[in-house]
Amino acid sequence: MSMDRRVRVAVLASGSGTNLQALIDWSRAASSRIEIVRVLSDRPEAGALGRAEASGIEGICLPGSSRDEQDASLAKLLDECEADLVVLAGYLRLVPAPIVREYAGRIVNIHPALLPAFGGAGMYGRHVHEAVLRRGVRVSGATVHFVSADYDEGPIILQWPVPVLDDDTPESLAARVLAVEHRLLPEAVEAVATGHVTLEPDGACRWMRPEAQPNTFILSRES
Ligand code: GRF
Repeated sequence: MSMDRRVRVAVLASGSGTNLQALIDWSRAASSRIEIVRVLSDRPEAGALGRAEASGIEGICLPGSSRDEQDASLAKLLDECEADLVVLAGYLRLVPAPIVREYAGRIVNIHPALLPAFGGAGMYGRHVHEAVLRRGVRVSGATVHFVSADYDEGPIILQWPVPVLDDDTPESLAARVLAVEHRLLPEAVEAVATGHVTLEPDGACRWMRPEAQPNTFILSRES
């Protein structure tokens, strides 16, 4: 990605879009190198599409009456907007393998747990936090990773821990994790966009300068 123009980011989202909003807000800063150029969703009712439109960003619900048609539309719509980088911000579909291959090292996902724990098919939204509480772990968190062919399996870019409290409900834990996601995702996307972190040919995720890896989040009990 050349450094003389902003890095074009397409965001895929199925839900309310608070992670998308965090990216939009971050991209508005003069220091940011990213520009959200298109938001795509598999759900016409996704709040993310409304957030895109409210920010003057094109929001498109994938056209097509079948999953195959919608997946074909996805590839075309990504090519059309000349996305340099693709971000899954609460996208519930598996991304077709040809797209994962085409965007290898340039497609990332955020997951509301410390992968590989509490990840994989069926582990999304409330299901994740219910499983965390059922298992009784004392720490959960958020993960941003490069996307590979399977759900939540790709090389990990950034993670951050979140305390699990004895009186937590799935909702209270989700809210605490979401607040961290909103800080983690923009950091990770900016780092990939500016080449500070890359997906190596051997499949490893490498930070160019280890000290560049943001680890300065000081989280209070409330965060
Ligand atoms: C987030 O918890 C994210 O980790 C998961 O889906 C949720 C999306 O929330 N992949 P929002 O639509 O960004 O508010």
